[in-house]
Amino acid sequence: MKRLLIIYLLYTLFQAALLSPCAKVSYKQTNDVSFQCTKLTTLPQYLDEAWTNTTTIVIFDSNIPNIPGHSFARFGATLMTLDLHESGIQTCDAQAFVGLTKLKKLMLWGNKLTYVPGNWFVNMYSLQTLDLSFNFIQGIDYMIFPMLGNLENFYFDYNQLNSTDYNMFAYLGNLKKVKFSKNPWKWAYRARLTWQLENQKVEILDMWEDWNWMNTMIKDCVESGRGELPSDKVLECVVEKLLVFTYETFSVHERSRVAKCSNQTSRLVRCIRPSNTIGNTDYETVLRILEDYSTILPSMQRALSPFSLK
Ligand SMILES: *[C@@H]1O[C@H](CO)[C@@H](O)[C@H](O)[C@H]1NC(C)=O
Ligand SMILES: *[C@@H]1O[C@H](CO)[C@@H](O)[C@H](O)[C@H]1NC(C)=O
Ligand SMILES: *[C@@H]1O[C@H](CO)[C@@H](O)[C@H](O)[C@H]1NC(C)=O
Repeated sequence: MKRLLIIYLLYTLFQAALLSPCAKVSYKQTNDVSFQCTKLTTLPQYLDEAWTNTTTIVIFDSNIPNIPGHSFARFGATLMTLDLHESGIQTCDAQAFVGLTKLKKLMLWGNKLTYVPGNWFVNMYSLQTLDLSFNFIQGIDYMIFPMLGNLENFYFDYNQLNSTDYNMFAYLGNLKKVKFSKNPWKWAYRARLTWQLENQKVEILDMWEDWNWMNTMIKDCVESGRGELPSDKVLECVVEKLLVFTYETFSVHERSRVAKCSNQTSRLVRCIRPSNTIGNTDYETVLRILEDYSTILPSMQRALSPFSLK
């Protein structure tokens, strides 16, 4: 009877281990202790399984809409990597990441976050990599910048940001790599952010190749005194440069289309205003022109590229 009971107990333990969506591994040589889960719909009950000496937590392919406060505090003494990618996270409570003073990597890509509040990063001063790519982030609390002095890699591409206080990036004195493309940036903010990062010698990993060209033109226009960002005068100057460039570069057939417009930029802008869009402001028209041009820039570069710098 006793033996049966032991067999039964072992069997249940074995089953539980097999059925648990989490696995823990301790690597003796490197002293790494990892805890990895997938297909979770709730966090606390599974995190209880993890050892206190865990250095890496990876949870992915899950559906955890909210990360409760103090979720990881128990691992504060050792946790260096917290990877919660593709886990359906919409919100994290104020103290969700409290106590993670050793954390170097926080990976939150591929979730459903819409805002990044400053309170996530209190005392997270060791953080070197913050990956927020592929979310729906519309805003980032500027408070996070002074808190992340050791940040080296900051990825927030594929989000919904249209503006940012580029000056705040100066707080990130150790920043080395950034990804910020595929956000609906207002052009002036994108330009300013690019310059700010260039000044800080930060590598912009996902720089849209053709934007590079455009950005150079915007800078050129500002520096030659044609206007200050975000004035439309700068856009008009860029459009003018693009048209002159097009005129010089394109085939006779294309030229005839451009030539129909006056070389007075303001008139050019009106000339090229899309006829099917009603009620556009000049600003929107110029933007549209820039967007249209951006789609043909690759072929322009192939044709002849006196403006391509790198
Ligand atoms: C972590 O803790 C577990 C359980 O206490 C232990 O078995 C393991 O050896 C520890 N690993 C390290 C690297 O300290
Ligand atoms: C920029 O984003 C903010 C926050 O999501 C939004 O309220 C605003 O309407 C957006 N502006 C533009 C021009 O898209
Ligand atoms: C613009 O037109 C004027 C004459 O109307 C001409 O002198 C000038 O060279 C033109 N500029 C460009 C960039 O084509």
